[in-house]
Amino acid sequence: MKWALAGCGDRPTLRQFSFTGHFSSTPLPPNPLEYPYRPKTQGFGKDRPGLSPKQPSIAIYPGSFDPITNGHLDLIQRGSRLFDKLIVSILQNDAKEPLFSVEERAGMLREVVAAYPNVEVDSFHGLLVDHAAARSATVLLRGIRAISDYEFELQMALMNRRLSPGIETIFMMANEAYSFISSRMVKEVFSLGGDINGLVPAPVEARLRQRLSNVPAEET
Ligand code: PNS
Repeated sequence: MKWALAGCGDRPTLRQFSFTGHFSSTPLPPNPLEYPYRPKTQGFGKDRPGLSPKQPSIAIYPGSFDPITNGHLDLIQRGSRLFDKLIVSILQNDAKEPLFSVEERAGMLREVVAAYPNVEVDSFHGLLVDHAAARSATVLLRGIRAISDYEFELQMALMNRRLSPGIETIFMMANEAYSFISSRMVKEVFSLGGDINGLVPAPVEARLRQRLSNVPAEET
């Protein structure tokens, strides 16, 4: 008797071939790694082992966000549809010499995510997995723009899994329209007089203008 995987797309089924050449589709047995198996309902987290289906799915989208770009915002929009709650968490790390303080970055983020009622803004220091546990989050959401992001993201995801196996990292592909944008490049282009229209949300462009032209905030 032969077994073959059905094509991609749906939950895989095994096609059971009989010796006469006929075959019938039978559902795959539940994957033992997913035990106890629960049928998928809606959103990530609803079918995770050991998790009550009623428990809300909470994801953390961590980063430096110095400042938030349209690439980040696109991921937030899409991520907000997948989880009951999405917490955008800013790493407090002065070693990176950020352009904007954590409070300024949080202010800009709150302004641009105000349209999404299930998105919150927070900040953290120390280990990301500890922050996730403190916020009852079981998913870490990260964006991947290109292969070059993958190696670092893989390392980070595996380290986080080692530190806390119950917390899953989920990657989303960046929207191709924004896949070349980074906060660092936006700051560089803007500081050299380049046009960043369409690369960052409008309030962020205004804050960049204030900061990089040294105009006090209240004058603009
Ligand atoms: O936007 P960034 O700078 O790529 O975000 C990186 C971030 C904040 C996700 C990462 O540096 C982080 O999680 N730092 C917290 C420290 C930590 O948990 N380290 C262990 C896992 S690598």
